[in-house]
Amino acid sequence: MSDRIVVTGGAGYIGSHVCVELLSRGASLLVIDNFANSHPEAVTRIQEIANADVVLLERDMADPAHKTDIVKAVKDFRPDGGIHLAGLKAVGESVAEPARYYSVNIGSALTLIEALEAANARTIVFSSSATVYGEDNANPVDEAGATAPTNPYGRTKYFIEDMIKDIARSDDKWRAVNLRYFNPVGAHPSGKIGEDPNGLPNNLFPFIAQVAVGRREKLSVFGNDYPTSDGTGIRDYIHVSDLARGHAAALSYLHQQETGCAIDVNLGTGVGYSVLEAVAAFKRASNRDIPYEIVPRRDGDIAEIYANASLAQKLFNWRAEKSLKEMCADHWRWQSQNPDGYTD
Ligand code: WQD
Repeated sequence: MSDRIVVTGGAGYIGSHVCVELLSRGASLLVIDNFANSHPEAVTRIQEIANADVVLLERDMADPAHKTDIVKAVKDFRPDGGIHLAGLKAVGESVAEPARYYSVNIGSALTLIEALEAANARTIVFSSSATVYGEDNANPVDEAGATAPTNPYGRTKYFIEDMIKDIARSDDKWRAVNLRYFNPVGAHPSGKIGEDPNGLPNNLFPFIAQVAVGRREKLSVFGNDYPTSDGTGIRDYIHVSDLARGHAAALSYLHQQETGCAIDVNLGTGVGYSVLEAVAAFKRASNRDIPYEIVPRRDGDIAEIYANASLAQKLFNWRAEKSLKEMCADHWRWQSQNPDGYTD
């Protein structure tokens, strides 16, 4: 791959793994990140792992005062396309601060689109989420599933998907894929990069990992009264390295398209695991106890969702390969080697 790709949010959890994957395929990268929920050390480690340098621009994709610099840097980089990962992603926070979420997430997407148009590089892969699906779809959920996000974060993802489709309909030079991630977990096998959430983790795997490494006393299991095998929530956990390969596969697919397109594609394994199954798998992988307490359900959670991932297989010749055991082993290696995440 000789592509020249702009990666917004490239220092983040997903972004760092996407950068490693693209660099390993010979791509040249411009990484734009404001380090609001990521760390400069991640960029250093990306370059160590891939034995390749990236061009780094520390700017805020959502700050109007930074737009001129961003557009100029993107034009000067002469990209073939962009991957948009920058944004706010905490569901609970989005309920408390909806205006900020709409402003940051939609604003940052528009800035990248404007920059890519200025650079005449109308190819984009957008980091969307299975959160756009409602709770009434039958599992496995395919891309035709009803979209009814239940929180502002999910609605920003849904609105940006439609914004990209509108832009592609207005200008057939645009080629776009909205990747609907299910639940990304795990870490690069080196243990050098991984998930390092600010403050109290919102998500299950980073919380379990912090309990295993002794940073947290116990896990709160949000409800065991769901209509599932063991009463706890079921999700489609996908290894972040498989997810990163999916981004490279999506870019390759877009570069082969003669005319414009804008499609939604699930990235999941097609297999669901419950909270307690994930806890048991992590215990086996880490050989650490994971104390937990059953507490009431978390508002907004759904009982069960897992992907129909056949469209990605059909279009990109991509499928998730790593098992839950590998997800837990790799997540644990990152957490045990970096008990406090990326530190100054
Ligand atoms: C998974 C399961 C919880 C934490 C969200 C976003 C999605 C994406 C991933 C950003 C559920 C249970 C969790 C805990 C628990 N985020 N749980 N105790 O809610 O499926 O998806 O995060 O891109 O867009 O919607 O992921 O990891 O928060 O929850 O019992 O401390 O674990 O109830 O069943 P979720 P999650």
